[in-house]
Amino acid sequence: MERGAVFAGLHSNHLLSPLSSRASASTLSPSPLADGRHFCPPLLKLPSQSHFASYSNKQHFSSSIHVASPTSNATSESADIDWDNLGFGFMPTDYMYVMKCSQGENFSEGQLLRFGNIELNPSAGILNYGQGLFEGLKAYRKHDRNILLFRPEENAMRLRMGAERMCMPSPTVEQFVEAVRETVLANEKWIPPPGKGSMYIRPLLMGSGAVLGLAPAPEYTFLIYVSPVGNYFKEGLAPINLVVETEMHRATPGGTGGVKTIGNYAAEGAFCVRRSKKWLLIHCESAEYGDSCSSFRSVRIAEISLGPSARLWLVLKAQSAAKAKGYSDVLYLDSVHKRFLEEVSSCNVFVVKGNVISTPAIKGTILPGITRKSIIDVARSQGFQVEERMVPVEELLDADEVFCTGTAVVISPVGSITYIGKRVSYGSSGVGLVSQQLYSALTRLQMGLTEDTMDWILELK
Ligand SMILES: Cc1ncc(COP(=O)(O)O)c(C=O)c1O
Repeated sequence: MERGAVFAGLHSNHLLSPLSSRASASTLSPSPLADGRHFCPPLLKLPSQSHFASYSNKQHFSSSIHVASPTSNATSESADIDWDNLGFGFMPTDYMYVMKCSQGENFSEGQLLRFGNIELNPSAGILNYGQGLFEGLKAYRKHDRNILLFRPEENAMRLRMGAERMCMPSPTVEQFVEAVRETVLANEKWIPPPGKGSMYIRPLLMGSGAVLGLAPAPEYTFLIYVSPVGNYFKEGLAPINLVVETEMHRATPGGTGGVKTIGNYAAEGAFCVRRSKKWLLIHCESAEYGDSCSSFRSVRIAEISLGPSARLWLVLKAQSAAKAKGYSDVLYLDSVHKRFLEEVSSCNVFVVKGNVISTPAIKGTILPGITRKSIIDVARSQGFQVEERMVPVEELLDADEVFCTGTAVVISPVGSITYIGKRVSYGSSGVGLVSQQLYSALTRLQMGLTEDTMDWILELK
């Protein structure tokens, strides 16, 4: 096959969006969203054009990447955004990291490019067959202006595990950590000040080469982008309210629930269609139709015809249905017995009873969370007995506390869980003591406020 065809996916020449027009503007011009609205980050100002120069890590690989020292004017100036009102939403930054390799080869060299849209062949493996993985980790700014990463090698190893499952080559642990380091440093001005949030780091691994018949893609792209974030749940450490999902399942034995593949997240997807002033939420054979996605009547999907003016959205069915009813998220059960706890949409779950903290065992259907693993160690070091086992849903009724863990949320105490119409509440006065204690221990460690006795922190400077 012609090399051009093999590399028909991401091409470095096409990686940059036409920044000349973007960069010349001092503020970000709104970019159109799929529904016709415009995205415009609040109070966001773009750096000047010269700041956007892309550079290859051929010259700057390893520790020689050129970013101004933290004490210089260049980096002590942070991005001009309202740090006090940072949510957990995407905000474009200056650079992204891109590294490519062909099937059967190893990743060898990546580069930092100006952040922008990427071009993909419509026949790319990721678009057609979902051959893709992602990761998520955070960088924190310390008071001494140092930058801290929390266990990035764990994300690297999880990506490698997932890549094996998804028939993809993956960067080595060293390549992954170095790429994260370079991306964070290049976007340093976007790291929130201490206590205001963190920089969320999103590595992606995708089959970017063109395939038609079902097969591993001929080319792969490893990409990292970052975004400053505040709290994942708008409640912060305030308790969240979960509903146990009894119909839909996140994963099945033998499937891919244990790896962070992109398909796991949209699998519970549904199309939400806007027709005049009404919303239509379509999932499988049913649809919900009303003034918003939360009010509905059921119709068969066959009865639906989409006019040219219909607008399509992809939503996560179970999660958005739960949110429409006022819950924060969904707690999934196992698909075999429909009785044992699995996890929440994007975090692991723990049940506290006395001195015992139980969490579903890793057995292929739940994601082996790095926060989960860390909390288990922190809890044991504090004298708790931690059990990794099958946890029946009935234990929720009798628990002292329930909490969730994940990079995005760190720890989210659960205020109530509703299971088949029955609501159980935890902690009359807000956050449970165990959740609070573990949250404090882990976040202090992540932010460099306590001694890193576990050797989990990587300092970038
Ligand atoms: C399905 C799922 N479970 C659990 C987690 C928590 O994993 P971690 O603690 O590594 O962020 C995540 C987040 O990545 C997730 O997507």
